[in-house]
Amino acid sequence: MAKTGEGESLGTAEGAVLGRATHTLHDEKPVLNDTWAIELLGPTTQVEARDAEHQRRLREDSAIDFRLILAVGIGSLRYAEDEVDRCAADGIHQYVVLGAGFDTFALRRGDVADRLRVYEVDFPDVQALKRKRIEKAKPQPGQIPTFIPVDFETMSISQGLAATDFDPARPAVWSWMNTIPYLTNEATETTLTEVARLMAPGSRIVLNYQGKVALSQAQIDYLQSLGELVREGGEPMKSLWTPEDFESMLTRCGLRTIDHSTESDLNERYFEGRKDGLYAAMPARLITAGPT
Ligand SMILES: C[S@@+](CC[C@H](N)C(=O)[O-])C[C@H]1O[C@@H](n2cnc3c(N)ncnc32)[C@H](O)[C@@H]1O
Repeated sequence: MAKTGEGESLGTAEGAVLGRATHTLHDEKPVLNDTWAIELLGPTTQVEARDAEHQRRLREDSAIDFRLILAVGIGSLRYAEDEVDRCAADGIHQYVVLGAGFDTFALRRGDVADRLRVYEVDFPDVQALKRKRIEKAKPQPGQIPTFIPVDFETMSISQGLAATDFDPARPAVWSWMNTIPYLTNEATETTLTEVARLMAPGSRIVLNYQGKVALSQAQIDYLQSLGELVREGGEPMKSLWTPEDFESMLTRCGLRTIDHSTESDLNERYFEGRKDGLYAAMPARLITAGPT
């Protein structure tokens, strides 16, 4: 099934980059200054994204307020990029972005291109559309990532990475943001077991998952509506983990939890003092882990 679309049928990868584009264009002090996001949208969506009034009307007419979940997505990517920057400063030269979608780190961060090689893993059709949009974009990308087409449910990331110059003998930083909810528990565990096997000492992974935690009625209702929307779009959410089960699974995979953060931590770190009401309003669980 196609995971990409245009106009009203944007897939989750495009939906996420649209959110980052409008955040960067229209919000004061973006939490993630994603200047490349706008370039990865289709022509019609680009025009609509630049139009603040159009965006305001869309929000009013929308079944749900996407900004409530947008802050979780953006805050999670910022959490990831902060760790990637620390790793790069510590001399790590490889960054693998799992479920990269329309992630723009490689394109935006020309400042680290000479010392951090970026590898992106996602569905083949999502990557094909992204490559087309990069080719059409006017700015020069800081780096073209190495694309590794993989379906986490049916394919092995080790095989995909083996076809590239990725070197498992050297440490790497990995991220897997805003994707695990769309996967079965089995695909998540199989992939993380492979990640652990591919990790040289000193490697790190940052990821997020949807936590099975106490929710307010407003959060239950919101997440139900969001779930229906993405299911109708062909990308149903498939997993929900208790924090305890997720940590146990990481241990089985051969990973050691270093940090386990929540939406409150995101709000404290990145959203405090904002005047536009943007904050992580939905539950989030974020982990930094390394090999055991
Ligand atoms: C919500 S998007 C997040 C993209 C990006 N990480 C971000 O935060 O903007 C979820 C991503 O997971 C990818 N994805 C979902 N299921 C997948 C699977 N089975 N194999 C590979 N990629 C998958 C989708 O194509 C999409 O790019």
